[in-house]
Amino acid sequence: MTDADYRSELDTPCLVVDSALLERNIEEMSAYARARGIALRPHIKTHKTAEIAQLQRRAGAVGFTCAKLGEVEALADAGVLDDVLVAYELVGEQKIRRLLRLVDRLRITVAVDSVAVAEPLAWAVAAAGKRLDVVIEIDTGLRRAGVEPGEPALRLARELQRMPGLRVRGLMTHEGHAGRATTREEMERLARQAGEAMVATAELLRKHGIPVEVVSVGSTPAAFATTQVAGITEMRPGTYVFYDAAAFRFGRIGPERVALRVLATVISRPAPDRAIIDAGSKTLTTDPPPPDRRGFGYIVEYPHATIVRLNEEHGIVEFPAGTPAPAVGERIEIIPNHVCPVVNLQDELFVVRDGRVVGTWPVVARGKVR
Ligand SMILES: Cc1ncc(COP(=O)(O)O)c(C=O)c1O
Repeated sequence: MTDADYRSELDTPCLVVDSALLERNIEEMSAYARARGIALRPHIKTHKTAEIAQLQRRAGAVGFTCAKLGEVEALADAGVLDDVLVAYELVGEQKIRRLLRLVDRLRITVAVDSVAVAEPLAWAVAAAGKRLDVVIEIDTGLRRAGVEPGEPALRLARELQRMPGLRVRGLMTHEGHAGRATTREEMERLARQAGEAMVATAELLRKHGIPVEVVSVGSTPAAFATTQVAGITEMRPGTYVFYDAAAFRFGRIGPERVALRVLATVISRPAPDRAIIDAGSKTLTTDPPPPDRRGFGYIVEYPHATIVRLNEEHGIVEFPAGTPAPAVGERIEIIPNHVCPVVNLQDELFVVRDGRVVGTWPVVARGKVR
């Protein structure tokens, strides 16, 4: 995105999506999944918009991944969801009641990682005369939710098989720890290990007579690495639609590939080495930079500058002595450290093509944290 009409046309701070870059990112991941014969089930949390979901579907996505039922409800209401994996443990009566309503509307699969999570689901669906597909969440190294691969996963699968109303479809993991690696080699090693643990666990279950149809992995940094392991059937990247500053360190993606930028205005130049912009923590979020970077985002026009501090509505930018710095009123574009929560803070995305605003997409699933 260069000097163009949209930069003066739009009020700031706002999010600008370059539709050509977006389509390129979507097509690249779809082509990869197709070539490897792997189902692509993108995570919706990055964009939360019906229009982008439609582009992904048209490019061959088999369905979507959501974390929260609120996201499922919003996107189902928008008419773009018919097959969804809820990659999140659903706990509590209120959630189970909502899930039962969704079971009638869509093909829905939910993640479980313990008997404590699965049992209330099983009894509720059985009592309602329904069935529910589940996948077992495996912890392949992230140390978040998930049962250990191997025997612990087998034990849980056996317990699930005894529960009424549940059908075990397979396994899922989020190998997000691979994305925290500092080198590409380390990232690829962690991703491969995660993929191998998944496939070995799937084999173990099959050996014990438990059919495993789905072996699902999901992470943008590791997307092209985990899926090199034979036996992975599904991938669920989310961030790849836009990418963000966290994607730079593995060398494949640079700023020129990032489809979403925060458009901000310089509102004060209180010192020669300091500028204040109208994007603070309520726009950029306080997500920290990846280990090899500094500051709260990458400024496209001033890559040597650092967004050193954020207040709610102020971004404090420092410029090294002797380097160019913007004047009051100048527009700058920022690539966020982590794009997903940035999108969640906005009502709409402004779509640009060839430097012009060509549309506005509402972020229909923003704020749907329940
Ligand atoms: C369960 C799950 N699957 C897939 C993804 C997508 O990963 P990424 O954001 O790296 O694309 C995430 C991201 O948080 C996730 O939590």
